[in-house]
Amino acid sequence: MESVTVEAQIDALLAQMTLAEKVGQMCQVPISHPELDERIRRGEVGSVIYSGTPLPGTGPQPPASAARLNYLQRIAVEESRMRIPVLFGRDVLHGYKTVAPIPLGMATSWSPDVVRSVCRVAAREASADGIRWTFAPMLDIARDPRWGRIAEGFGEDPFLCSALADAAIRGFQGDELSDPDSVLACPKHYAAYGAAEGGRDYNAVEVTTATLRNVYLPPFHAAIRAGAGSIMSAFPEIGGVPITANRALLTDILKEEWGFDGFVISDWAAVDELRYHGVAADRAGAALLAAQAGVDMDMASDVYADELAGLVEAGRLPEAVIDAAVRRVLRAKFRLGLFDRPYTDEQRSAIHLHPDHLRIVRDAAARSLVLLKNDGILPLAKAGLTIGIFGPLANARRTLFGAWTLDGDEASVVSIADRIRAAVDRSVTIRTAELVDDALTRARHCDVVIAVVGEGVSRSGEDHCVTTLDLPPGQQAFLDALHALQVPTVVVVLAGRPLALEPVHRSAAAILMAWHPGTEGAQAIVDVLFGDTVPSGKLPVTFPRTVGQVPLYYNHKPTGRPLPPGDRRHSRYTDHLDSPLYPFGYGLSYTHFEYSNLHIIREDGPAVTVRAEVTNTGPRAGEEIAQLYVRDLVASISRPVKELKGFARLALAPGETQTVSFRLTRDDLSFYNAEGKRVFEPGEFAVWIGPDSSRGLAGTFVIDPDGA
Ligand code: NOJ
Repeated sequence: MESVTVEAQIDALLAQMTLAEKVGQMCQVPISHPELDERIRRGEVGSVIYSGTPLPGTGPQPPASAARLNYLQRIAVEESRMRIPVLFGRDVLHGYKTVAPIPLGMATSWSPDVVRSVCRVAAREASADGIRWTFAPMLDIARDPRWGRIAEGFGEDPFLCSALADAAIRGFQGDELSDPDSVLACPKHYAAYGAAEGGRDYNAVEVTTATLRNVYLPPFHAAIRAGAGSIMSAFPEIGGVPITANRALLTDILKEEWGFDGFVISDWAAVDELRYHGVAADRAGAALLAAQAGVDMDMASDVYADELAGLVEAGRLPEAVIDAAVRRVLRAKFRLGLFDRPYTDEQRSAIHLHPDHLRIVRDAAARSLVLLKNDGILPLAKAGLTIGIFGPLANARRTLFGAWTLDGDEASVVSIADRIRAAVDRSVTIRTAELVDDALTRARHCDVVIAVVGEGVSRSGEDHCVTTLDLPPGQQAFLDALHALQVPTVVVVLAGRPLALEPVHRSAAAILMAWHPGTEGAQAIVDVLFGDTVPSGKLPVTFPRTVGQVPLYYNHKPTGRPLPPGDRRHSRYTDHLDSPLYPFGYGLSYTHFEYSNLHIIREDGPAVTVRAEVTNTGPRAGEEIAQLYVRDLVASISRPVKELKGFARLALAPGETQTVSFRLTRDDLSFYNAEGKRVFEPGEFAVWIGPDSSRGLAGTFVIDPDGA
């Protein structure tokens, strides 16, 4: 048995290692550390993070190279006493040299296949430069678009996020972790980081046991089940216990209840930050809390390096805690095959930007686009028109990458304006302008304007939270001015978060939400604008009408005073509608889909099959993402008004009908109760199959207490 051999090899290593060398395995050091070579030689470095600053997603980073990493690895493997290879990690979130849409965009595909292939591409390209560990996927459920990091995750829904988490782990880690083109995944940020109060990064979290278990933990559990070999603890505190010191989360649930046998790494400097949380008086206290809680590796703070050995020698921390952590780190290195093959073939970087990779991210980008509105203007003709291409992002290139792109090269991207120029017939006249004044003057002579607006990268990602979801300053005024000129306008929105697009919805002829779509994103957008691709993306997150409505998410709890019908008071605002502008699951097509014939088929025992027919009643072939929602009508704690429990992508020719069928088991209908116990409570359930979370064919079924 391979695993027995690995454990025996780890035993042998542990028996020979000094305390200092063991602690070294628990330390991750930035590539920019001035004494890195020497520290590796002394066996003080278990891992190197290939970034030089705490916020690599928001600024340029030194490029990784196999030659540099091989040089460092040689020191570890040939010059350090224990010859234990170093594990090199980097943030490779949604691509490497070939960049896919931001994760929120990928989630819009509702396609595990898309996520898996994109993560495979990222793994292949990153590993070619010696990176064998990525700090991804980001699995934080996000219900507040003010939080900049909503861009990095898969949206607001635990079911969708869990399906994509599974796919991401399989994509990064490949068939075998020991294959040279596999990378160790590190789901992050465990857990509930997305619930940061006020949508303000790093802020405290207040969450009940039931919400933690039902909403925030499932994607992480799915990632662990898929075999994720490491996990990153999150920055915030929950109920007064910083997660870096949270034994209940890191040990009791993760390692004991879920049986996770990989290792936990802190977030950047988070061990030291326990002092600022006010739970440790000094660095030694911080090290003690984190190690006891179950943090196996300290990212970048050097608190473990400086303090752990002293704590053991002083009898404050059992050496067994260190041994257990080191075992987990070494296990990951064995699984990656680093002991057998520590070096990277320096020729492999030829696969960067491989045509197959570009094809995969182009397909991902095509599926990441959501048509939010279309009065019939789209798709545009490629001939005979005068088209204005305006807006601050029409010529953007780097912006198309989005946040957390450390390795994409701007030279590999073509702007939306240039892609349009290349796509249209010579009979089309293109008008562009740098200044708003000129744009408005030229717009008068256009048949249609394509306005590319939205957020740049500096407004998205870590530490980039906002208090307004309006378009950045000046952009709405520009769109209003176009509207006043009565020029039909197609608005393409690039952004890392849902924006409050109500004013745009009122005036634009069409709106295409494109997120930050990656290397091939501009081409994917042009393919949709001119009808070569039929849009099929569906929102993985609710779009509010105004920032004042947030948090606004579809799977909220009922209140004692629900929305009308009825004349009772209800939970609402007096100055705006209650509903979102675009609900979770929403997205238009160039064709139409009709749902009919809902059937609920009871099986023996607590399982049901729910079916419906979906017909393409429009003029074009298209793909529809059919969605299944459930509500547990009466339970021991109030349950969400709707919960996604299934989805399926159907490719339908004009006039074609397909049956979509979902099976709901007892497990699908179970939930965590107020005590954090998973329970199945029989009774009546409502069920819907439909095109989004606000519409669908509805039915009910009953599961009796005896399960019949
Ligand atoms: C801090 C971020 O929170 C985390 O997502 C990232 O992986 C680390 N820095 C390393 O760059």
